[in-house]
Amino acid sequence: MKRIAVLTTGGDAPGMNPAIRAVVRYGISQKLEVTGIYRGWWGLINEEVQVLNHRSVSGIINQGGTILKTARCTELQTKEGQERAYNTIKKYAIDGLVVIGGNGSFTAAHDFGLKYKVPCVGIPASIDNDINGIDVTIGADTAINTALNAIDNIRDTATSMERVFVVEVMGRDCGFIALAVALAGGCEDVIIPEIELDLKKMCHDIVEGNIRGKVSWIIVLAEGSGHAQDIAKSITDMTSLETRSVVLGHIQRGGRPTAVSRDLALRLGQAAVDCLLQGRYDRAVGISCGRVNEVDFATAIKKKELNAEYWHNLIRILT
Ligand code: F6P
Repeated sequence: MKRIAVLTTGGDAPGMNPAIRAVVRYGISQKLEVTGIYRGWWGLINEEVQVLNHRSVSGIINQGGTILKTARCTELQTKEGQERAYNTIKKYAIDGLVVIGGNGSFTAAHDFGLKYKVPCVGIPASIDNDINGIDVTIGADTAINTALNAIDNIRDTATSMERVFVVEVMGRDCGFIALAVALAGGCEDVIIPEIELDLKKMCHDIVEGNIRGKVSWIIVLAEGSGHAQDIAKSITDMTSLETRSVVLGHIQRGGRPTAVSRDLALRLGQAAVDCLLQGRYDRAVGISCGRVNEVDFATAIKKKELNAEYWHNLIRILT
């Protein structure tokens, strides 16, 4: 293996830059040439490539986002897109590909890598923490802390003005961020895609609590489970309590990566290059039980088991 390429794809996550830095610098230390592919799969299809050196990744360790840019690209699902991507691989003599991204990115890498015999290794980076078989993705810790800061701020006004708040966090198919911040933020309840919402029961509990003298609530909503504004309106209608909604949105995707996200990124960057050098492909690297491990793409892209009931019960008990 002489030349590897690295790309970031799907939604950006804080920590992608440190991961790129580790791939480039560790790759160079192993006598590899490292090529950056810009805008994810789109760049592979459209030949947006550039050789990276030690200096190309200076000063990015503390930056959110990705210097390689990223995109959601469905073209790689077409035969034409795959063939063009493969032509770029051949033209630039790329012997292996490091794919930094989430579930959708690994699904694409699994399919493309096997079909065209391109050695692909994934580095899990997504705020959603939706990669099966590993503990946590790069960026999830940063996003949780960003959302938690916002919830702590909302707590001040919710308590002072004695209101109910519905706070919508990211997570289209996955309630991980919602569960993590609801527990850490001492929130009263959480609504996630993994557990069917019983709005009547939730409102009944709010009214019961209000009768006992409780005056403020924060309910965290994962975006995949509805719109904060609609849920807030239903709560007002059913409880007569003043309810406000907040959508945190893309704020959660930006910002300086935390130490947890950076350390993870740097360790996994090295591990991904080692995988390629040692001839192990079609897999993702990740930390499980505190150690750097590998999980094959077919397992990594399966639905991650969150043990949502456990988290939900604990949130409710500790309220
Ligand atoms: O990257 C994951 C994620 O942030 C999800 O939590 C969210 O549903 C989605 O991306 C939003 O994607 P986009 O920025 O393309 O609208």
